[in-house]
Amino acid sequence: MAKDIKSVDYGLEKIFEGAEDFLPLLGTDYVEFYVGNAKQAAHFYKTAFGFQSKAYKGLETGSKDTVSYVLQQDKIRLVLTTPLSSKNPINNHIVKHGDGVKVIALWVEDAKQAWEETTSRGAKSFMEPKVEKDEHGEVVRAGIYTYGETVHMFVERKNYNGAFLPGFVEWESDYNPAPTGLKFIDHMVGNVGWNQMNTWVKWYEDVMGFVNFLSFDDKQIHTEYSALMSKVMSNGNGRIKFPINEPAEGMKKSQIEEYLDFYEGSGVQHIAVATDDIIKTVADLRSRGVEFLSTPPEQYYKEVPERLAEHDHELREDMEKLMKLGIMIDADEEGYLLQIFTKPVEDRPTLFFEVIQRMGARGFGAGNFKALFEAIEREQGLRGTLS
Ligand code: FE2
Repeated sequence: MAKDIKSVDYGLEKIFEGAEDFLPLLGTDYVEFYVGNAKQAAHFYKTAFGFQSKAYKGLETGSKDTVSYVLQQDKIRLVLTTPLSSKNPINNHIVKHGDGVKVIALWVEDAKQAWEETTSRGAKSFMEPKVEKDEHGEVVRAGIYTYGETVHMFVERKNYNGAFLPGFVEWESDYNPAPTGLKFIDHMVGNVGWNQMNTWVKWYEDVMGFVNFLSFDDKQIHTEYSALMSKVMSNGNGRIKFPINEPAEGMKKSQIEEYLDFYEGSGVQHIAVATDDIIKTVADLRSRGVEFLSTPPEQYYKEVPERLAEHDHELREDMEKLMKLGIMIDADEEGYLLQIFTKPVEDRPTLFFEVIQRMGARGFGAGNFKALFEAIEREQGLRGTLS
């Protein structure tokens, strides 16, 4: 009989037992992208991914320098920001990196304290604690730099009931495509340069109080041509998980090197979003034009029952449907997970999305790495960036 699949437990309570969490995080507050054309990007995230119109600021609301659209789907909140003139420094970010993630904002009880705790441990400040107010209340925000030019913003919103942040108005749109079942951010992955992974692992340990609870080396993550290393960092309550990748020597150029070349530095590689019905979500996303990496070969699916049986799990989903949609399956002692990866969502081969459904498993699909990287290498081959 198959084991009962329990909710995912990372066992972090044990690791943190007795230790004081100096940076309690309540969750991901928002993810902000700097983009060349926020209006069109917002249309894409609504149409393709089913995000809902949430809030807006721009010339009409008195914002003279930047325009931002806020989109939401269940607990996932995206902010798309574009500068309105060539003088705005956000342009430099876009010129260098292309469209990409600038801010991973973390929801905290006390933003000033979060900023003080982290900067006193060596974080470089991005924004000193700032109280922002409007008729809906007040929000306190403060920010620090992490890898590359990426920023963690701490957001304290105890006394706020507006659409998003002071300065934003409710975005009422006549165009509201249905959601696709995306629920929350499961993890966000950063790519860092050669020999930098351990530096950033230590930074997350020392500055943010995170722990490294899973590691993969180039022996585990490699194909015939390329390799990479990855360490997964988590905060004390396990709500925030940041795997960090660095390239490793291989015969050809790895996808991490390709990312670093095109992003021109370290940055966010992918955002994994959770659903509780991946078959429905992925069928919907595909019908809306979201492009996924090519489907694993038939042989991959032939091996799945064995991989599940090894850990005494029974697949609850229809294997035919998973195969048809190109959804991958991985198992560990606790359960299994279903996942699929999009192609990059901008022209540079940089940021992409993962859709994940956890059926008890707490891993990141290590059993799928090979099939996944081979699919990425097929894309790299087409882009001429493999060698
Ligand atoms: Fe992932």
